[in-house]
Amino acid sequence: MTRLLGTPDTLNPLPPVGADFIDAIERSRLMGRGGAAFPVAAKWRAVAQRSRGNAVIVVNGAEAEPQSKKDRVLMSERPNLVLDGAFIAARVLRARNVILYIGERHDVARNAMLRALSVRSEPERRMVTVSAAPARYVAGAEAAAIHFLNEGIATPTNVPPYPFERGVGGAPTLVQNVETLAHVALLARTGETPRTVLVTLAGGIKKPGVLEVDAQTTIGEAVLRTGGATEAPRAILIGGYFGHWVEPEQAWDLALEAESMRRHGLGLGCGVVGLLPVSRCPVCETAAIMRYLAGESSAQCGPCFFGLRALADACTRIAQRGSNPEDLTRMQRWAVEVRTRGACRHPDGAAMFLSSSLQVFAQEFASHRAHNLGRTA
Ligand SMILES: Cc1cc2nc3c(=O)[nH]c(=O)nc-3n(C[C@H](O)[C@H](O)[C@H](O)COP(=O)(O)O)c2cc1C
Ligand code: SF4
Repeated sequence: MTRLLGTPDTLNPLPPVGADFIDAIERSRLMGRGGAAFPVAAKWRAVAQRSRGNAVIVVNGAEAEPQSKKDRVLMSERPNLVLDGAFIAARVLRARNVILYIGERHDVARNAMLRALSVRSEPERRMVTVSAAPARYVAGAEAAAIHFLNEGIATPTNVPPYPFERGVGGAPTLVQNVETLAHVALLARTGETPRTVLVTLAGGIKKPGVLEVDAQTTIGEAVLRTGGATEAPRAILIGGYFGHWVEPEQAWDLALEAESMRRHGLGLGCGVVGLLPVSRCPVCETAAIMRYLAGESSAQCGPCFFGLRALADACTRIAQRGSNPEDLTRMQRWAVEVRTRGACRHPDGAAMFLSSSLQVFAQEFASHRAHNLGRTA
């Protein structure tokens, strides 16, 4: 099996690819690795249909998710593979420009990409510009990336128009995660269906970091490969801050594959698997993440800005055992009400995370509340 990190990062001539390469992507069932797991072929077709030789490829290496490291590791260790994927996309979609949109704090990754680019052919180099993505959670969202590249403001705007309709400079634009593009490059080179996934193991783990595993690998096997957990986990957060908490017994046997996750009503998101040790308070952890997410709202949509702040405040009051009698029921209601009420998926992701916390940590939330009532009665 060909691996991203197992493949030497050599500079090879690009494999010959034409419009029919999109069929190969479709057969491979490759899905985006930036978070939404959207089918890659459908996105490429939408851009190909509109491109008049003017399409733009945005290589998304923003990676602002606090626990995620996999995009940085990939850009640092296999920059040529990422560039190959971008140039293949440019060729197939008849693009004029490739933009490397890399997190402003990811210096090692950006320098590795620039070094790899510096030895590319003159026509390839001329196509590429590099842009520093602001270190804000929403800056990696594709609508925010387009807004930033057009107007210098990394906040999402209302869709439509979608990037494939009118993106950078008004041209049809493909925004694609760096890992997705690296898989495209391997597919073009080997014809093999991508079967691996990059995951970041974080939290209560002996050797936290990035692993490339076969997508059939279970979470339990991946954790063992890093030397195991530091102590028994209370729950596992799958998919980063827009993800779901899962009880360890259920998570242990789950395969790290998007489709199997989906069958369980879960998602691998950006590939973060975070272990919460039993010694940590899940209510405090939930409150801290909610405060972070509320602070990362771009403050353009009322339900997102005010709603997430109210949710974070209520959660913090419960965590600190100073809540009002209605906080818990209100939180349950608001976590449903803020969904789909913003211009981007930020409130949906945050609300989904909170709902899973309320479900998986129901006992801990109830005991915090009981303790509160005892004190305030
Ligand atoms: C708030 C928010 C933040 C996001 N951050 C990133 C990011 O840092 N990197 C990324 O590749 N995708 C991120 N995404 C997903 C992008 O919007 C987009 O779906 C992705 O870049 C498309 O590439 P893919 O199809 O290859 O996954 C984010 C989405 C949202 C809603
Ligand atoms: S939903 Fe939130 S993060 Fe998204 S555009 Fe509106 S205010 Fe900004």
